[in-house]
Amino acid sequence: MVQINWGATKTNTPLEENNFLPTVAQTSTDLDSSSSRVQVDDKSMINCRADLNQLVPVRYEWAWKKYLDACANHWMPQEINMTADTVLWKSKDGLSDEERRVVKRSLGFFSTADSLVANNLVLAVYRHITNPECRQYLLRQSFEEAIHTHAYQYCIESLGMDEGEMFNMYREIPTVARKAEWVLQYTRELCDENFHTGTEENDRELLRNLVAFYVVLEGIFFYCGFAQILSMGRRNKMTGVAEQFQYILRDESMHLNFGIDVINQIKQENPHLWDHNTQQECIDMIVQGTELEIEYAKDTMPHGISGMNARIMTEFLHFIANRRLLQLSLPEQFPGARNSFPWMSEIMDLRKEKNFFETRVTEYKTGGALSWD
Ligand SMILES: [Fe+2]
Ligand SMILES: [Fe+2]
Repeated sequence: MVQINWGATKTNTPLEENNFLPTVAQTSTDLDSSSSRVQVDDKSMINCRADLNQLVPVRYEWAWKKYLDACANHWMPQEINMTADTVLWKSKDGLSDEERRVVKRSLGFFSTADSLVANNLVLAVYRHITNPECRQYLLRQSFEEAIHTHAYQYCIESLGMDEGEMFNMYREIPTVARKAEWVLQYTRELCDENFHTGTEENDRELLRNLVAFYVVLEGIFFYCGFAQILSMGRRNKMTGVAEQFQYILRDESMHLNFGIDVINQIKQENPHLWDHNTQQECIDMIVQGTELEIEYAKDTMPHGISGMNARIMTEFLHFIANRRLLQLSLPEQFPGARNSFPWMSEIMDLRKEKNFFETRVTEYKTGGALSWD
């Protein structure tokens, strides 16, 4: 059983603990009128002393670009028609028992997983990343996580599922709970208002958090469910849910890439943090996460659904884990693992994003006009 009391008692946090002022120690809410203007070289990913309220001059162009790309890809769950899914879900023989199990487990796992991510961003990561352009992206990502939670809630409501059962799966279903428990251990310390970066041990704790949430949770724990639901969509089953997942996976690919860039930037700026032990620890985390995801795959597909079973999913997850390790310049742990679902690459590959969004009915890129009458 997962014990979670996340932020509920922290409503009276003093301003100086909120990390929005320029000093590392974050002890003052006064503006310092005598300090010099921010130069680009003053900026750094963690433990930065430059004024965090000044977006420009931008040091990390990639972070600003990701913020702009994310805003250009805005979408909302209600735009997707769920009628066919509702009919299929309520029909007696539209789906096999195992397909129904896959849909329920996916919506159950994800309905809380994105809240775990959002809470970690807002209550832990944001405070400790001391760079305004990255914080700009973190704010955008936080909103996207809210949209994702909304999307899962919208699916659950549209299908007429038992909301209590779905939103409690991360506490009640062992293979889902183990994933939640695993990731939560990496956020507790950072959510403590007395935690500050600036020591080697605490800086490493932040690195571990970023690896746990961006690389393992968003980069591995999401992938069995994504592949299962998108595979059903390709077979014309639960197409509305699958479309929601497609948009979410697109967002998640960007979250993952942002997280990898942040981790690699921290490594570059603080090479002493990335020693042999820390590298081994990150390898172990990724391998553990992969094992938990394989357990989840076996639990959701005891026999297999059309075109997919736990054995094929295991190879896919090994392939994904190798990819994550390489992104962090760590050695592959599953030699020879192949991408069992090459069609997933089309959605994971960001270069396809423009084509994907050309099919949209609502075109956010043109901007929404406000009417004032
Ligand atoms: Fe998400
Ligand atoms: Fe995400």
